[in-house]
Amino acid sequence: MKSTSVSELLKGEQLLQEITLKGWVRTFRAKRFIALNDGSTINNIQCVVDFENTDEETLKRITTGAAVALTGTLIESQGKGQKVEMEVKTIEILGDSDPETYPIQPKKHSFEFLRENAHLRTRTNTFSAVMRLRSSLSFAIHQYFNQKGFYHMHTPIITGSDAEGAGEMFQVTGLDLKNPPLNEDGSVDYSKDFFGKETNLTVSGQLEAETYAMSLGKVYTFGPTFRAENSNTSRHLSEFWMIEPEVAFMDLAGNMDLAEDFLKSIITYVLENNKEDLAFLDQRLLDEEKTKPQKDRSEMSLTEKLHFVADNNFKRVSYTEAIEILRNCKPNKKKKFNYIIEEWGADLQSEHERFLVEKHFKCPVILFDYPANIKAFYMRLNDDGKTVRAMDILFPGIGEMVGGAQREERLDVLLEKMKALNIDAEELSWYTDLRKYGTAVHSGFGLGFERLVMFATGMSNIRDVIPFPRTPQNAAF
Ligand code: 4AD
Ligand code: MG
Repeated sequence: MKSTSVSELLKGEQLLQEITLKGWVRTFRAKRFIALNDGSTINNIQCVVDFENTDEETLKRITTGAAVALTGTLIESQGKGQKVEMEVKTIEILGDSDPETYPIQPKKHSFEFLRENAHLRTRTNTFSAVMRLRSSLSFAIHQYFNQKGFYHMHTPIITGSDAEGAGEMFQVTGLDLKNPPLNEDGSVDYSKDFFGKETNLTVSGQLEAETYAMSLGKVYTFGPTFRAENSNTSRHLSEFWMIEPEVAFMDLAGNMDLAEDFLKSIITYVLENNKEDLAFLDQRLLDEEKTKPQKDRSEMSLTEKLHFVADNNFKRVSYTEAIEILRNCKPNKKKKFNYIIEEWGADLQSEHERFLVEKHFKCPVILFDYPANIKAFYMRLNDDGKTVRAMDILFPGIGEMVGGAQREERLDVLLEKMKALNIDAEELSWYTDLRKYGTAVHSGFGLGFERLVMFATGMSNIRDVIPFPRTPQNAAF
């Protein structure tokens, strides 16, 4: 007898074969019909119990949430709604569930409630679909880079350099916080800490990835990153996953080409490989949209949005052009923005980014050549002396999806910049060495994985696309 999965069975190729199926009961109705799910697909399989020949005690234990092993035969379904069903001969209750207290009842639950029950929420259709898509996207990313000749590298999670400047950091320490060793001036003596120096959780693997790009040529890292900023928004996590490719001999134009091709490829991958989950999420989003006022509803369905991104060119716009558009746009003139754009040099807020992609261009936008002083120290200074070869990719409904740049490859320019920003050159000598020994033009970018998962699933809160979200005041599970 074969043990099989629901997704295998629903293909209908094992008709009349005796099979064993293990999964969790979604519903049990009329003492006859078990809707069983095992996580292999969004779809349940209907399992028909011979209740006359099953003892009452067992029937009572078939409750929503219980784990069961069913043995029987796959047959063509008599009823509507499914092609095949299982005629159950024997039932083994593997794990009971208490129907009184089981949180995941067969009804609609709010996402807030399910977040509190994140350990059980993947037993719902929405969260199982989201997490299968997340897994698929991750696979597609590794496959893409593998096929393009990139090497996957693991960058450190604990870091001793704090110069990236991408955000506030979480300190890692082995010191006794109640009684830390002190220097004469009263400051903490980190030479006595675990690593003999101050250390933090990384905000990005980029600087380390650059070292490998400058030897292995094309590399990428895909790891957890940590930011201790107090941003309680639907698009920020304190712990998130980032994909960061870094490529030698590639300039900013090549970087934009790579990022665009990469995003289109992985979206195409899920469109082709996650059809059932996407169809479910499409409908979910449609239902959600219906609860909104007409004017706020999206013009496209989820799959239409994904196709739109996969099939159309991203719009490439310089920061300078974007500022002109924003300065002259209606919400700016009518002071509808929280931050009014007055002059060149202003940092763009998410309201501005969203205006550009959602109202003005209505497609993904790559903004490039930002003012040097609102971007990181390592970005390549343009000949105008005031802009850097940075790029941000903005997506409808999400805002910033990707941030990247061509890196400053000139030692003297880089050192000067570090000095101006008070960045310790000694601490980063390994980084500047790359410019000292065989320097070359190189570029890369960082894609926030959860923002991609949000886009691909149509979920509107980033807490709902990562298994156990970490946000300010919350590290449950
Ligand atoms: O723009 P960021 O800060 O860029 C970097 O860290 C560069 N070192 C990347 C590189 O060039 N290799 O972050 C990159 C992306 C953002 O565009 C966004 O998608 C995501 O990471 N991101 C976050 N996602 C979730 N929660 C947060 N708090 C995020 N901060 C950034
Ligand atoms: Mg950024």
